[in-house]
Amino acid sequence: MADVRAAYDALVAAGELRPDAAQAAVADKLDALAKELAAPPPPRAGLFARLRAAPPLLTPHGLYICGGVGRGKSMLMDLFFAHADVTPKRRVHFHEFMLEIHADIHAERQRNGEDPIPAVARAVADSARLLAFDEMQVKDIADAAILSRLFTALFAAGVTVVTTSNRHPDDLYKDGLNRQLFLPFIALIKARCTVTTLDGPTDYRLQRLAGAATWHVPNGPAATAAMSDAFFRLTDYPVEDRARVPTETIAVPGGRSLFVPKSLKGVAVFSFARLCRQPLGAADYLALARRYHTVFIVGIPILGPENRNEAARFVTLVDALYEYKCKLIAAADAEPAALYPAGDGVFEFERTVSRLMEMQSADYMALGHG
Ligand SMILES: Nc1ncnc2c1ncn2[C@@H]1O[C@H](COP(=O)(O)OP(=O)(O)O)[C@@H](O)[C@H]1O
Ligand SMILES: [Mg+2]
Repeated sequence: MADVRAAYDALVAAGELRPDAAQAAVADKLDALAKELAAPPPPRAGLFARLRAAPPLLTPHGLYICGGVGRGKSMLMDLFFAHADVTPKRRVHFHEFMLEIHADIHAERQRNGEDPIPAVARAVADSARLLAFDEMQVKDIADAAILSRLFTALFAAGVTVVTTSNRHPDDLYKDGLNRQLFLPFIALIKARCTVTTLDGPTDYRLQRLAGAATWHVPNGPAATAAMSDAFFRLTDYPVEDRARVPTETIAVPGGRSLFVPKSLKGVAVFSFARLCRQPLGAADYLALARRYHTVFIVGIPILGPENRNEAARFVTLVDALYEYKCKLIAAADAEPAALYPAGDGVFEFERTVSRLMEMQSADYMALGHG
């Protein structure tokens, strides 16, 4: 069985990762957990043992990795997930997982008037003994209200949880409505997962983007080459797989969905036409901004008065990206200030120009997503 620390050390030796003691320490913890998971589950205690002692915890203690952006949390979790010898296992973005849970709860309610959570939790537990969540965050009262009961049932069913987050558990759903109802979830996470901080001095994501231009002018082969280089630098995608970067369809609240032509490790690539020439709106752009930490947009043209709809959509899109502190890498036929020289809404567009300038700054690039 391969192990996580050895895999990490091999990447460092190959020059793909810089040696980082804080990361190595987390790799060791993940390694220990991977070994526990690979061991067969202990046999159920006999009647006398059960009478004598409280039931032992049957599932390995999970891990909650928190820290700033770009510290390597997701990278380590992916390494762990690839090496965790347990089936079935599932890695999912926390936000996507919760959208699914709400849909399942809704379906279960239609089927059966009773409390839907036990059945939903059972189905999740049947589909994964290991759940690896990327970017646990709680902003929504609907999530906050069910998390404690859902995860109590998941843990009881023997699920082990590993998660990354930008926040310590104590700071989840901070200042949220009715937060006292959420506190049992924090206690539960702290009881069932070891909380470990990965917050070294280096933001590797920023380092990977540093020096690279974020706004390429004009559209053309040079811009395409630079964007492609930045994309693969950000996502570490193996060279031999470059012709088939996965696509994804993300759910948009309200029942729609949005097709993402390239989607990898929190980075999405779109053409301007796909995002702004179709009738998309704030809900689509916000779903995109929530889901991806970095968005690439190619083929932004200079817009004339006849393109006022495209210009208006672009304003909404940039607002959404800005709100979620998404990083934008773009190829355009002009600098932001010369993109939309005349037409309806040029005044509005000035704010977009100023945001686009700010989004190219080192300070903005250093902000965490979300
Ligand atoms: N030790 C390292 N050396 C070089 N690059 C690294 C190192 N650790 C992480 N990275 C890279 O930095 C980027 C950010 O890492 P990621 O795991 O996404 O961070 P986080 O999830 O903490 O925000 C990724 O491209 C990742 O491969
Ligand atoms: Mg991450």
